[in-house]
Amino acid sequence: MTAEPVSPDLVVAAPVLTVSGAVHAYGGKPALRGVDLVLRPGEIYALLGPNGAGKTTLIRAICGRIRPDQGVVLVKGLDPTRVAGARSGLGLVPQEIALYPNLTVAENIQTFAALADVPRAGLAAAVTRALELTRTLDRAHVPIKHLSGGYKRRANIAAAIVHQPSLLILDEPTVGVDLDAREAVDAVIRGLRDVGVAVLMTTHDLDQADALADRVGFLSEGRLVLEGEPHALIAEAFGERMEVQVHLGHEIDAADEARLIAEGLERTSRSTVWARLEADGYAAAGRLGRRLREAGLTPREIRVREPSLAHLFTLVADRKLAA
Ligand SMILES: Nc1ncnc2c1ncn2[C@@H]1O[C@H](COP(=O)(O)OP(=O)(O)O)[C@@H](O)[C@H]1O
Ligand SMILES: [Mg+2]
Repeated sequence: MTAEPVSPDLVVAAPVLTVSGAVHAYGGKPALRGVDLVLRPGEIYALLGPNGAGKTTLIRAICGRIRPDQGVVLVKGLDPTRVAGARSGLGLVPQEIALYPNLTVAENIQTFAALADVPRAGLAAAVTRALELTRTLDRAHVPIKHLSGGYKRRANIAAAIVHQPSLLILDEPTVGVDLDAREAVDAVIRGLRDVGVAVLMTTHDLDQADALADRVGFLSEGRLVLEGEPHALIAEAFGERMEVQVHLGHEIDAADEARLIAEGLERTSRSTVWARLEADGYAAAGRLGRRLREAGLTPREIRVREPSLAHLFTLVADRKLAA
């Protein structure tokens, strides 16, 4: 008997990262309460969760900086607290820029390459590759201190990938980066995914997670309470409901605010944009607009759109969603 040939669709790449049952406490206070996480090559995973949820602790465990009290962390099948080969398989981009300000971009990358034991013979090619992948080649010979925030952030990524890790971890990659520069950072992260790097990032920016992540995981009090592909999770949680957004053309006073709240609207991150979820989005938007105009609140615009990860996050944070 001969074996059936395996269809290429059925061939799943071996995980780059496996976390299984990770438990960790600081002085008896639990920070991780049994986390399972698997990442495969060419996948972007966004780890979400409020402050104190355990995101940084999980990253420390993956990087081998702490050993979990229970459970297993394997990077390319190796234990990062014991095997140097596991650590060389990962690159960490810390939240703060960790570069030498007086050295140029290329000099910084060379320095990090030496620290990561990149062989001398391959050094020049490795530096060029890191510059290309992070779109910093045009600033290669500029000292870090003269760069914009977005270039600094990308140079920080270049330093973390010069040794060609299979797993790249970014802690809050867009904190303090303005909107234009953010898109460049996103493009670099996508480019790395496209060459097969597995990317694990933490972010407070749910729009960024929505735009970038193949999968997201919500960490809450040391547990992954929800995980999956962003649009599948949104569809499952909200079904047919749509978000109706009211954009007001002017700042509002207390009486206006009371009126909006009475309509079941909630303030978004912008004080002039209010929103609620509706089963029959477009019809409800029409009725809502009429009532608001009658009350003397003339919306500049009313939009209907699919609920976002931010809505899902609110449900999880309010414990309205079963794990
Ligand atoms: N070095 C530490 N010593 C003691 N407690 C810590 C330490 N680091 C984090 N914690 C606690 O562990 C929990 C998880 O923290 P952390 O992993 O930093 O969460 P996140 O990165 O999601 O904000 C929090 O309650 C935090 O106060
Ligand atoms: Mg943190």
